Amino acid sequence: MKTFQSRLGIKLFLSYFVVILVGMFVIGIITNLTTPAAYARHLLFMEQQMGGSGMGQGQGMGMGQGEGLGFGQGQGQGSGMMGSFYQNFRNTFNEALVVAVIAASIVALAVSYVFSRSILAPVQVMKNASLRIAEGHYDERVEMRGEDELHQLAGSFNKMAEQLEQVETMRRRLIGDVAHELRTPLTAIKGSAEALMDGVLPASAETYSQIHAEAERLSRLVEDLQELSRVESRAVQLNIHSADSTSLIQTVTKRLQHQFDEKRVTLTLSLPHDPILVLADEDRIIQVLTNLIGNALQYTPSNGTVTVSIERNKNEARISIRDTGYGIPAEHLKHIFDRFYRVDKSRSRAHGGSGIGLTIAKHLVEAHGGKIWAESDGENKGSVFVFTLPLVH
Ligand SMILES: Nc1ncnc2c1ncn2[C@@H]1O[C@H](COP(=O)(O)OP(=O)(O)O)[C@@H](O)[C@H]1O
Ligand SMILES: [Mg+2]
Repeated sequence: MKTFQSRLGIKLFLSYFVVILVGMFVIGIITNLTTPAAYARHLLFMEQQMGGSGMGQGQGMGMGQGEGLGFGQGQGQGSGMMGSFYQNFRNTFNEALVVAVIAASIVALAVSYVFSRSILAPVQVMKNASLRIAEGHYDERVEMRGEDELHQLAGSFNKMAEQLEQVETMRRRLIGDVAHELRTPLTAIKGSAEALMDGVLPASAETYSQIHAEAERLSRLVEDLQELSRVESRAVQLNIHSADSTSLIQTVTKRLQHQFDEKRVTLTLSLPHDPILVLADEDRIIQVLTNLIGNALQYTPSNGTVTVSIERNKNEARISIRDTGYGIPAEHLKHIFDRFYRVDKSRSRAHGGSGIGLTIAKHLVEAHGGKIWAESDGENKGSVFVFTLPLVH
């Protein structure tokens, strides 16, 4: 019974079959009901045509005459009788059939109507729901209770509506977040400029460099946003080829070494001697490494240590960046790759962080077919960021 309910095809087939069965049933009943009356009427008509004598008599007469007058004549009259009998029978049958067919058609129409209504009801519901969604009511869902294809379609429809709703929510939040992020440096620039004009702030090199720093932060944010929109829309063309991951790490750490020295954070590398060849776009992986190692430096206080290591794991390379810094509380761990997500806004903003770096890194790693995740034992217990890249076979 369940498979019958869960197959639209079987449902349609069965409903056709039931309609035909009902039609035949009605034809049977109606012909049964109408045939005797019609037959009696036609026999009466035949009797009248033959001059009012009884049928049994007429038949006997015909037979007797046929016997007496010779075969040819008897046959002629006999076949005339039979012909008229068949004609009457046919008329009777046709009459009954016409009535039966009309009745069966009416019943079949009614049954088909009920069946098709019940089969098409979910389609109607979905049509109305899609119109509501098109009008911008993204919370619209269709109710579903069955299991057939139309109900599965309703399920997919609901999933699509959910996705649309999420995209819409994200779009709204993104605009809100971007406006908020832009406002902070703009307010600072405006405030400093006004204070300069009013003579409240001295026209010193320090004031100008403050304004410059805020403008700098603004343009970095805009660049990050542009990059984010590129990676999110998958517009970044990866130029993937075989690359030595250990030398990529060395390139990045060499560039950042100076900043590590300045903050007095130790940077250690734990790299194998032989190269580990991965399939990667070098520039993009340098970007990811810069982001992760930069973060590790940013969120580790002086005298801390950052360790970058790489190891082979089955058919992938695992690159880990471990620090002894502020760590990430468990409840924040699953969100830090979300855009604009910052565990401690003031600490991040003090370094010009916008909360986009990890989002970009995640997109880039995933575009390479790798994974990225973070682990931390909690606040002030340091954190590890790990990402994987496919090895060259
Ligand atoms: N190594 C780390 N240690 C502790 N927290 C980190 C580390 N890396 C990232 N985070 C947290 O994740 C958030 C998002 O990082 P990111 O996307 O690079 O943004 P940003 O650095 O601009 O704030 C940071 O604000 C910070 O709270
Ligand atoms: Mg960052």
